Amino acid sequence: MSAAALVLAAGEGTRMKSHLPKVAHRILGVSMVELVVDAVRSAGVNRVVVVVGHRAEVVRGLLPGETCVLQEQQLGTGHAVMTGIRALEGLTGSLLVLSGDTPLLTPDTLRRLISAREEAGAAVALLTAHVREPGGYGRILRDAVGAVTGIVEDRDLAPEQRDIDEVNTGTYCFDAAALAAHIHKLTPENAQREYYLTDMIAHLRAGGLGVVAMPTEDPGETIGVNTRVQLAEASKVLQRRINRRHMLDGVTITDPDLAWVAPGVTLGRDVVLEPMTFLYGSTSVGDRAVIGPNSRLTNTEVGAGAVIDSAVCVSARVGEEATVGPMAYLRPGAVLGRGAKVGTYVEVKKSTVGEGSKVPHLSYIGDATIGARANVGAGSITCNFDGTRKHPTFIGEGAFIGSDTMLVAPVRVGEDAVTGAGSVITRDVPDGALGLERSEQRAIEGYTERKKHAADDD
Ligand code: UD1
Ligand code: CA
Repeated sequence: MSAAALVLAAGEGTRMKSHLPKVAHRILGVSMVELVVDAVRSAGVNRVVVVVGHRAEVVRGLLPGETCVLQEQQLGTGHAVMTGIRALEGLTGSLLVLSGDTPLLTPDTLRRLISAREEAGAAVALLTAHVREPGGYGRILRDAVGAVTGIVEDRDLAPEQRDIDEVNTGTYCFDAAALAAHIHKLTPENAQREYYLTDMIAHLRAGGLGVVAMPTEDPGETIGVNTRVQLAEASKVLQRRINRRHMLDGVTITDPDLAWVAPGVTLGRDVVLEPMTFLYGSTSVGDRAVIGPNSRLTNTEVGAGAVIDSAVCVSARVGEEATVGPMAYLRPGAVLGRGAKVGTYVEVKKSTVGEGSKVPHLSYIGDATIGARANVGAGSITCNFDGTRKHPTFIGEGAFIGSDTMLVAPVRVGEDAVTGAGSVITRDVPDGALGLERSEQRAIEGYTERKKHAADDD
């Protein structure tokens, strides 16, 4: 498809009452403007221009590689388009115009809008929606035969127009040449003293050009986010849409209201998501894995058949059939081999836990490499930081780390080596050896009896 798109994202979004520009607010971890640009790209649109203005550097930062045009003063959506089309000079054919605050549009709807305009040979096709609460949106005016004659903004409505329930979604497909030829006709004569893009409808009609409207099949798709209440509503709609897709693809979600799965997440077949599970970023989960309850995974790769219960995992890799939690924290660079176990109150950072190895209870493992089939006893800790620098720990295959061992890095415990419980290991333990660092235990005979007599004498 040879369509282009203009995404309007220069407004402040006063009604958000935020330090962030509105379009930078996130839904399931992804900013609204990114969601819009992703939908446009997925619809097959190759030329995209984003109009930025208020805190432009923040919005640009969210869109590396995209063409952004600066609208220095935000004088309205019409003015934003006047600014943006300068970057598209000489463009012919279809030009989508979308708002950066309408984040739920699907590529399918955008493609249908483009086809609607092209098939009708119209100067513009606008996407409308019939909604129960039209307040805040511009209303679609139609004449006696149902043809669209214009759009009236909420603030400019006459009393008898208030009940019109067909609203402007702020999503249009223009004939680029017709738009360029008529856009200078916009004037700021309205309640807000702004250049309204919506006035283009009446101007194009007056120029004898065709205007068509395409009502959306799913009003949830066209929510425009102006307030944090609408941000939460939009999040809910996206959550449901994503969860539904995964369920139809073979994922069990125990309570779909209590599982939040970001758009970029992939889930295998027969995955189970228990309540209060949050999967963000580029997380991927292999077949049959069970995640949750109470787990948050960000940019984490989980192998088939793994089980993660009450854990937080960030940029980690969990091997097939591995188990994590309850109450575990996998930090960036944690890599668990096949069948490995990271158990209760265990934190792992930038470390490899080898195939079948276990760190079952109360441990900190940082900057360590643990070979296969090793066991790290309860309460053991890699002392990886000397106050200035981080140092590595190596634990060989089949090693057994006694409970409460302090491994003072840099240090190496050899293959099949053992450390005695409570040892502070500061020197390497050779393969197959026992490393023991412990003062001799003494027994002071008759101690309790003597203490009792001393108390009686008082
Ligand atoms: C707009 C429409 C309204 C429609 C609604 C749908 C107009 C005049 N009104 O109203 O008919 O029902 O969207 O959600 O178009 N922007 C700029 N530069 C500006 C002003 C705005 O880039 O100078 C951007 C904003 O960042 C935003 C988008 O345009 O992403 C829409 O602006 P907003 O102020 O939210 O318009 P609404 O009042 O919602
Ligand atoms: Ca809006």
